[in-house]
Amino acid sequence: MPRRKLIAANWKMYKTPAEARTFVDAFLPLVAGHTRDEIALFPSPVLLPAVVEALRGSQIAVGAQNIHFAEEGAYTGETSVWQVRAVGGTHTLIGHSERRQYFAETDEIVNKKLHTALKHGLVPVVCIGEVLGEREAGKTESVLRRQVTGGFAGVTGLAAEVVASIVIAYEPVWAIGTGRTATPQIAVDAHKIVRAEVAKLFGDAVAAGMRILYGGSVKPDNATALMSQDEIDGALVGGASLKPDSFAAIVKY
Ligand code: PGA
Repeated sequence: MPRRKLIAANWKMYKTPAEARTFVDAFLPLVAGHTRDEIALFPSPVLLPAVVEALRGSQIAVGAQNIHFAEEGAYTGETSVWQVRAVGGTHTLIGHSERRQYFAETDEIVNKKLHTALKHGLVPVVCIGEVLGEREAGKTESVLRRQVTGGFAGVTGLAAEVVASIVIAYEPVWAIGTGRTATPQIAVDAHKIVRAEVAKLFGDAVAAGMRILYGGSVKPDNATALMSQDEIDGALVGGASLKPDSFAAIVKY
């Protein structure tokens, strides 16, 4: 069965609730009737209720950009899986490179967050990817393997349908926010490494069904070349997802 692509917007630390509603009001008509791909928006936690409300009745999913691995507790400034679920979020990013870079998230933390998301039924989008120095040093493959095996530790014991809900986003860090997109070939090669590692952990059938998104300077003018690759199962879009017309153009690549 072909994998259904997921086109996801990572709004990072942008927009107020009013701006988010304005986005949704403009975006919904632009993608009306578009059922080919799954669409998801990942706003800041403070915007989640407004975005869920604005999207009510649409097929568009809403997720958090981050969750804490604990279910609740004295973790000032953090957001729990329950809080995300309670306001209607169904997905969460985990281990985005900005979390790894600025908030010291390790593969071990990513792994704990993944277990929490899976336990409570949030669809996890686990972000992995090498930094420029690693690519230039020929370490891309070993970095991706390490991020998959470390991030997915202990997941092998979970039920097949739980594992099948996991989405991976390959986001080479040198391509994020830089305007320097990976070529389709670079992305495909990396996705193949990731899929092979997933196959080692979970078997060929799970690997064949797992969606691996590409992220890093996806724009309307490069989306078609990337998304037309069978190996690329969607996009995680930052900058170009902030405007309704450019994100809609990517969705409708
Ligand atoms: P970008 O961000 O599209 O602005 O490169 C992608 C991301 O950080 O997920």
